[in-house]
Amino acid sequence: MIKLTINGTAHDVDVADDTPLLWVLRDTLGMTGTKYGCGMALCGACTVHIDGAATRACITPVSAVAGKTVTTIEGLSADRSHPVQKAWMELDVPQCGYCQSGQIMSAAALLAKTPKPSDADIDTAMAGNICRCGTYVRIRKAIHRAAEFGGEG
Ligand code: FES
Ligand code: FES
Repeated sequence: MIKLTINGTAHDVDVADDTPLLWVLRDTLGMTGTKYGCGMALCGACTVHIDGAATRACITPVSAVAGKTVTTIEGLSADRSHPVQKAWMELDVPQCGYCQSGQIMSAAALLAKTPKPSDADIDTAMAGNICRCGTYVRIRKAIHRAAEFGGEG
C-alpha cells in the first residue's frame, strides 16, 4: 500500500511500486484530467506538479511521490479561478484540448517561480509540452495575461 496526497486529499493505493503515477491517477483514482500522450516524457500531456515542480507523471513511479505533494489539473483551483485558467478562457487557447491540462500545469509551475516571465522564459519552460493543434502563440499570450492577473493564484 502506498500513501499519496493528491490535491490535498490522502489516498492509500494498492499498486506495484513501479506503477507510473499517471496510471494511478487515471485508472486507480479515476482522475482523468491528466492525459496520456506518449508515455515516454516526450509530449508533456501528463504534466502534474510534485512539490510544485512540473513533472511528467508517465515516467514517475508512484513510489517516488509517497510523502510528496501532488497537484493535478483537478486540484489547480476549485472553480477554474487560477490566473492561468482565467487567461486560457479569456484568450480561448485550446483547440482540440488534449494537450491543454499539461500546458496549463507547466504554465502554472513557471509562473509560481517566475511571476513575470519573458518570451524566452516561456519558450524554455514550455518546450516539452507539445501541441499538435499548434496553439503555441495563444499559449504564450495567455501566460503573459496570467502574469498580469497575478500568476500564481
Ligand atoms: S504522456 Fe507523459 S510526456 Fe507524454
Ligand atoms: S489543443 Fe489539440 S493538441 Fe493542443
